[in-house]
Amino acid sequence: MMKTQSKEKSVNSLLSGGGTAIPLFKVFMPKSVLEPLNEVLMSGYIGEGPKVKEFEQQLGPWFGNENVLGLNSGTSALQLALRLANVGVGDEVISTAMTCTATNEPIMAMGAKIVWADIDPWTGNIDPADVEKKITPKTRAIMCVHWGGYPCELAALNAIAKKHGIKVIEDAAHAFSGEYHGTRIGSHSDFSCFSFQAIKHMTTVDGGALTCRCKDDLERGRLLRWYGIDRTSNRKDFRCEADILEYGYKFHMNDVAATMGLEQLKYVGETVAKHRANAAAYDKAFANLESIQTLRHDRQHNGAYWLYTLRAKDPHAFMAYMKEKQIVASAVHARNDTHTMFQDFRTKLPGVDEFVSEQVSIPVGWWLTEQDRNRIIEAVSGYRA
Ligand SMILES: Cc1ncc(COP(=O)(O)O)c(C=O)c1O
Repeated sequence: MMKTQSKEKSVNSLLSGGGTAIPLFKVFMPKSVLEPLNEVLMSGYIGEGPKVKEFEQQLGPWFGNENVLGLNSGTSALQLALRLANVGVGDEVISTAMTCTATNEPIMAMGAKIVWADIDPWTGNIDPADVEKKITPKTRAIMCVHWGGYPCELAALNAIAKKHGIKVIEDAAHAFSGEYHGTRIGSHSDFSCFSFQAIKHMTTVDGGALTCRCKDDLERGRLLRWYGIDRTSNRKDFRCEADILEYGYKFHMNDVAATMGLEQLKYVGETVAKHRANAAAYDKAFANLESIQTLRHDRQHNGAYWLYTLRAKDPHAFMAYMKEKQIVASAVHARNDTHTMFQDFRTKLPGVDEFVSEQVSIPVGWWLTEQDRNRIIEAVSGYRA
């Protein structure tokens, strides 16, 4: 018992910075995963098998797209999407700097060049008008990220892609269950990439999913996620005789992760609803503050609110102030374009400059009690810069 308590304390301090602070993230893991996990672990089959298939089949209706591949991470989903989009050495991919580096490192891994497009400083999402300006004959794909789970302007991005014969890849790592014009993220573009990493709305410890618009991409992706080998081929000697047409990766999900995912799916609707309810309360409470401004979210869309980002005058002072109040606040992701690894692609991004000079996220998740939420509202409302 004592051991469990001290473990919990140290985990808490990892996520919350210590003490009794309200954490910015928390792992959602229902005890009900234990029974099915035990079963699959002892079943004699823990690789990619029936559980992955079942998980994909259940994810289909969530995404409004039955073309789903279960993968071992969101990063793998991004790299697989780039490969399926035929992005190769010397090609250009238009992307956003305002994200986790996991969005952009796979572009480097394909040997492609990143062309940064600016963002809307009031949503954190890529600006379609700037995307259009950056198109060249070498552009193969547009990569967009739904910042905090609020949908990008998908109609505009897809119209540009269609006009120029290129692909749209959505990094939907923050956006599980986010809705664009009333339709869930996962069916609007050529590819949508999801993450089930530890602190996402739902977790398989590590894991991801890719949705494809086209069946052909799904079938090719199914081969490429496991070395290019057709696992379904019914050969005499296991899979040894199967010819491999093109090289692939080790990106598949396994049955242990999928078992967790299947159990998590039972709760995720409720989880996302709690994130949204907290975000709605903040929007109302922070509408008329002097040192804090809310982002400008069009109510036609329904964000997933993995993050609740606001704009604070002097965000570092704000974070320190929140720390004093025992509430964790963070910028979460640093702009990517200033990293040395991306130095060849630098360009002027005034929208990113503006966003990073003020953006900061506060706890918004399912773990907040009413008392926590009120404490956060009171603290934010009392901030003066
Ligand atoms: C925006 C974004 N894209 C991609 C990823 C990568 O996902 P994963 O950790 O599942 O590889 C993350 C991170 O967790 C993320 O926040």
